[in-house]
Amino acid sequence: MDRHIRICLNRLSFYAIAVASLVLLLLFLQTPETCVPRDSPHKPHLRFPKSSCDYSPRELVPIDKKNKRLWSTKDWRKKVDSYIQFFKPIQDLGLLHNHSKVICVSAGAGHEVMAMSNMGILDVTGVELIDSPPLVSRADPHNLPFFDHVFDLAFSGHLAEALFPSRFASEMERTVRPGGVCLLVVERCGDIEVKEIVGLFRNSRFIRSNNVTLTGLPMTIIIMRTRKSP
Ligand SMILES: *[C@@H]1O[C@H](CO)[C@@H](O)[C@H](O)[C@H]1NC(C)=O
Ligand SMILES: *[C@@H]1O[C@H](CO)[C@@H](O)[C@H](O)[C@H]1NC(C)=O
Repeated sequence: MDRHIRICLNRLSFYAIAVASLVLLLLFLQTPETCVPRDSPHKPHLRFPKSSCDYSPRELVPIDKKNKRLWSTKDWRKKVDSYIQFFKPIQDLGLLHNHSKVICVSAGAGHEVMAMSNMGILDVTGVELIDSPPLVSRADPHNLPFFDHVFDLAFSGHLAEALFPSRFASEMERTVRPGGVCLLVVERCGDIEVKEIVGLFRNSRFIRSNNVTLTGLPMTIIIMRTRKSP
């Protein structure tokens, strides 16, 4: 190697070592801050903390009690009712039946899952990155843990938040049977955006879009059908 480069590299590693040692020394000298008093009779460090600065015991509410509380709030019921009004026209179009097998992708806390169940749809599956039992199970929308063509209808209101929208779309299409329905609701938009979104669904044809109001927000519903032959 060229002598000049070697000297240069040596110098560089010397500086790197010096900076690293200094940082290490600083970290060593810094006392960590703690919210636990020094003379605390408990030994909070022996228990796993519930949060970074909480060592008071907290009651553990059972999940069904928690759900009962959540589902009886006015906000929850209003949203579920709004979803029921939203899904009714889909039923009227003959695209959603009581015996339809439905998946709600990125279902959040599960308003849409409860809405469909309340409408009489018997087989509704909700999935989300974080589960909310019993309405929503944990699954990655980009990698749905279901076989091909097992659902009659896939619904999502969260395509826009997907990390990889085209992957999200193709997973919805994959799990829906040929001739099934892909149903989206997105923020209110015009025809150009609708066309762009439909373009993500390469194995579906556009049926219709409508401007609607869902949970008080101006939205656009997009209805597609998956092609019969791949
Ligand atoms: C679907 O289920 C609901 C609720 O159980 C019921 O009221 C309705 O009549 C059913 N619809 C059909 C077409 O069976
Ligand atoms: C929906 O609303 C958007 C924005 O207001 C508008 O551009 C579009 O034409 C509307 N679409 C329909 C189908 O009415």
